[in-house]
Amino acid sequence: MRGPKTAVSRREVLLGGSATLAAFAGGGAIGLAANAADATLPISSLDHPILPGTVTKNMMGFGSSGTPPILRLKQGTPFTIDVVNRLDEASIVHWHGLRIANGMDGVPYLTQNPIEPGERFRYSFTPPDAGTFWYHPHCNTLEQMARGLTGVMVVDEAEDPGFDLDIPLNIRDFRLGGDGQFTSFFKPRLAARGGTLGTVSTVNWQTEPVYDVPAGGLLRLRLAITDPTRVGTYSVNGGEAKVIALDSNPLPQTSPATDIVLAPGQRADVALRASDREGEIVTLTRRSPKGEKVLASFRATGQSLRRSLAELKPLTPNPVVEPDLTNAEVLEFVFGWTPEGAPPIQSICGTLDYTFWSINRKAWEGDTPDPVAPLATMRLGRSYILRLRNESPNAHPIHLHGLTFKLLKSNKRPLPPLYTDTALLLKEETMDVAVVADNPGDWAFHCHVIEHQKTGLTGYIRVAA
Ligand code: C2O
Ligand code: CU
Ligand code: CU
Repeated sequence: MRGPKTAVSRREVLLGGSATLAAFAGGGAIGLAANAADATLPISSLDHPILPGTVTKNMMGFGSSGTPPILRLKQGTPFTIDVVNRLDEASIVHWHGLRIANGMDGVPYLTQNPIEPGERFRYSFTPPDAGTFWYHPHCNTLEQMARGLTGVMVVDEAEDPGFDLDIPLNIRDFRLGGDGQFTSFFKPRLAARGGTLGTVSTVNWQTEPVYDVPAGGLLRLRLAITDPTRVGTYSVNGGEAKVIALDSNPLPQTSPATDIVLAPGQRADVALRASDREGEIVTLTRRSPKGEKVLASFRATGQSLRRSLAELKPLTPNPVVEPDLTNAEVLEFVFGWTPEGAPPIQSICGTLDYTFWSINRKAWEGDTPDPVAPLATMRLGRSYILRLRNESPNAHPIHLHGLTFKLLKSNKRPLPPLYTDTALLLKEETMDVAVVADNPGDWAFHCHVIEHQKTGLTGYIRVAA
């Protein structure tokens, strides 16, 4: 079973094809050598027309066609992928949201050595959860992501929910000048606050792509926010649409697909019934103080398929173990500025030459072969409440690798009981989340505004047997 087709925008058709790495182990791939991986993922420098007609130079891309490929896996099926580093600097790839073995998590020194130029590393894992995930480097992260290294990963449900078309949307900005070339990746005075926003908004590396979709058909839009910085409010306008999953976990109750707040690292799955009439358009927009911006459109084509949202099978919850709140120990984390005079972070995996942020009043000292002590140690199999306190006036999407946590409560707002790997902490908010420490290893724990992460707001949590 291959699930629904993956959409291709009109411009991709013109440029000669989509970039999906369909990869099912044992799926009858032809002529693979005995120990070949299911997929190969080169990382290279390339030039690409982000703005139509203008080639942006010195981008970094996954795969060979420019736009990062959609990696397609199947829940519960083993997968191997060879990452080949063709850059002239070290890199490493992290699979955001996947609960896999620590050694496959792609964090320099904490889980493996960086992949040096010319080297390759084989990642192998079996995704336990289905949903929308993404992948990105964890080495020189701001620059490598800013130059293009962010991709979407789809893990298909064991049981096909019944969509006609699947549309992964890699949503991110680039910081380009009027000439279409990269400008500085960040500004220090902004890194010390909310972060530095991009200048050109894209979906799948295109400005305002138009996707042809079957009239009256059922579409699965997979919004993945892979931007280094921007928190946004997204809406699907026209058609009938509802949010069915957030951060790869199905919602117990679907919600309207308007005003969806998504921060860097977060994802939303939207079920959309396309318009019945040929030529009618549904838009995906993002709201900012300046107004509503169209990011992508979906144009109905052909005779109506006359499907109905009610025909979709509800998604099966992922196998996340429910935390035992009565016996959970509370672990406290404070996110804030760095004490004066902290030295800049040093590492072969890149430094921004500034230290602005901290967790528990300590700034991360950088990715080194001898990392500092964990922020906390959890015992394998036990439940914990992580009390996340933001003492700054800026928002921080807090991300934990390797584990799924549940939102409990906030001092600022009611929280739905969602499962996630990335929670947006609003200014001066304190949020309690609960987690079962069921995956052993050292798990990176950081803000997903990459300028914050790379100027101190990073650490790790140890799950020890
Ligand atoms: Cu998506 Cu440590 O990151
Ligand atoms: Cu991650
Ligand atoms: Cu932050």
